[in-house]
Amino acid sequence: MKGLILSGGKGTRLYPITYNRAKQLVPVANKPVLIRVIEAIKEAGINEIGIVIGDTGDEIRHAVGAGRRWGVDVTYIEQDAPLGLAHAVKISQDFLGDDRFVMFLGDNVIEGGISQLISEFAESEWNSQIVLTEVDEPQHYGVAELGDDRQIVRLVEKPRHPVSNLALVGIYMFDHHVFEAVHAIQPSWRGELEITDAIQWLVDNDYRVHPYVHRGWWIDTGKPIDMLDANNRVLAELTHKVEGYVDRSSRIDHLVTVEAGAEVINSVIRGPAIIGEDSRIVNSYVGPFTSIYHDTLIEDSEIEHSIVMDHSKIIGVPHRIEDSIIGRAVEVGSSPIKPKAYKMTLGDHSKIGVL
Ligand code: TTP
Repeated sequence: MKGLILSGGKGTRLYPITYNRAKQLVPVANKPVLIRVIEAIKEAGINEIGIVIGDTGDEIRHAVGAGRRWGVDVTYIEQDAPLGLAHAVKISQDFLGDDRFVMFLGDNVIEGGISQLISEFAESEWNSQIVLTEVDEPQHYGVAELGDDRQIVRLVEKPRHPVSNLALVGIYMFDHHVFEAVHAIQPSWRGELEITDAIQWLVDNDYRVHPYVHRGWWIDTGKPIDMLDANNRVLAELTHKVEGYVDRSSRIDHLVTVEAGAEVINSVIRGPAIIGEDSRIVNSYVGPFTSIYHDTLIEDSEIEHSIVMDHSKIIGVPHRIEDSIIGRAVEVGSSPIKPKAYKMTLGDHSKIGVL
């Protein structure tokens, strides 16, 4: 089998973090979501991976390269515009050939990996397997209606009046018959070739599409709140270890990872939390569910339930920072210069809450 990861798209819902960056490279528990996807596919025994890239392709090539670090062989497939998930399959036909494949959205995180799903599909005679999970607001997802025999009757993309609460998780398995489907369907009202339409075409043409209901958690990291949620879940599952330096006046608990080269000085860290390589936490409090990426400084400040990306500085902030996503090379601090006022340089689409 082969793997196909979709890593194009615009990521508008994560602006400004993804204004000029690939959303698949935003770190969750200090590892980009895309790298988690590559590792899950590799763990399922697949070594040949195609990555569909768009405007942010250069950044993705730079981060993943040929894939050797993860023991996989990566081929890049350029998509001129994000014309839909089925369009991404269509342009990947040369790479996929006649092999069965798993398609994984590059911004999705799932509990427990995909090894079992892949082996079931590899050994089956199904033409496709889709992964479903129960969600609270099905109108925001591709939704499946199952018949009395638990087989798929109908799939609808973001239905106004959902017929079930079973949403399509961003993991799909196909054999080569999917190419007939993606060539047969037409773009939807939003101008995209929808994967739900391609799967519906398979169902309507008597191909066997097996629905698998996933019981663990699954997160589509589309919005900032989803990113924080994914960060919570992954941090809670990590096996934590301390490789950096923690001085004697600091207190950290057993759910804290301190990566190599990081320093914790006169600070308190409550886990689950992770402090990235070469970052420094000085005279500060880092609370649960916080990921501090590499080369970042937190000094005389308090932060919890947040993601802070690399090369940022948070110094002397008088109130605790919570529920925040702080991008790369951001500086947050208090200023001694009068008059006492907020002084900000915020990019487009920034969101900030002040006291
Ligand atoms: P989406 O989350 O549907 O789209 P998006 O990334 O453009 O985000 P937003 O809605 O916030 O603007 O995409 C799911 C994944 O699939 C994501 O990793 C991007 C990728 N993708 C492609 O590679 N090609 C495409 O044509 C589309 C629509 C998405």
